[in-house]
Amino acid sequence: MLIDTHAHLQDEQYKEDLQDVLKRAEDAGLEKIICVGYDYASSCQALELARKIPQVYAVVGVHPHDSQELNEEILAKLFEMAKDPRVVAIGEIGLDFYRDLSPREDQRKAFIAQIKLAQELYKPIVIHDRDAHQEVMDIIKKEKAGRSEGIMHCFSGFLPMAIDLMKQGFYISFAGPLTFKNAKKTVEVAAKMPQDRILIETDCPYLSPEPFRGKRNEPARVSYIAAKLAEIRQKSVKEITYITSLNARKVFRIKD
Ligand code: NI
Repeated sequence: MLIDTHAHLQDEQYKEDLQDVLKRAEDAGLEKIICVGYDYASSCQALELARKIPQVYAVVGVHPHDSQELNEEILAKLFEMAKDPRVVAIGEIGLDFYRDLSPREDQRKAFIAQIKLAQELYKPIVIHDRDAHQEVMDIIKKEKAGRSEGIMHCFSGFLPMAIDLMKQGFYISFAGPLTFKNAKKTVEVAAKMPQDRILIETDCPYLSPEPFRGKRNEPARVSYIAAKLAEIRQKSVKEITYITSLNARKVFRIKD
């Protein structure tokens, strides 16, 4: 069965119909959904959902956009929260030099502080990297961020970076952009990454795959990413589903 390794179910776009969204996910063959926080409030909401809904797990952390909000107090709260067995990773954390919504120096500090937090708890990290490939790699290497493993979410780099990440202990996750017309670079990565390092996600409510591009996304559509990956790697959808779910269980240390 499928696992959506990156969803934002706490987004207000699901306020009216979360139950329907979850039902459609179940109908589409999803067994688990990893609900990812992006600031303190959304991390609390992710954990709340994970405690309520058996198929949902939480990832807690502060996104580079919000890294200005990260202080000692919030860091300590995240640490306590992340001890909960329903919290399977720290994220999404990283650098975003495309939108630059927080000063870069704050982004770097928040990224490094949360890498250290994850290492203390021996939890994997979920990385957001937009237009900051080189610096993200430098920090990963310097901090040995892959020691407790991690995921590069919605990977957008070239193959050598993906290989480098793999060597550092990371998995590569593919989202809706893999189905877009201009996805040549990502398709190459998806074709050539070793099978034991690939994951699939929706990043919903964002990044709807074709033919839904531009519309609100939801976990059920991770099946479109699985289908595209199967086509690229010339495997059956069943095989891709099996392998990506196995990888997700491994990296998030999910035992049930
Ligand atoms: Ni996200």
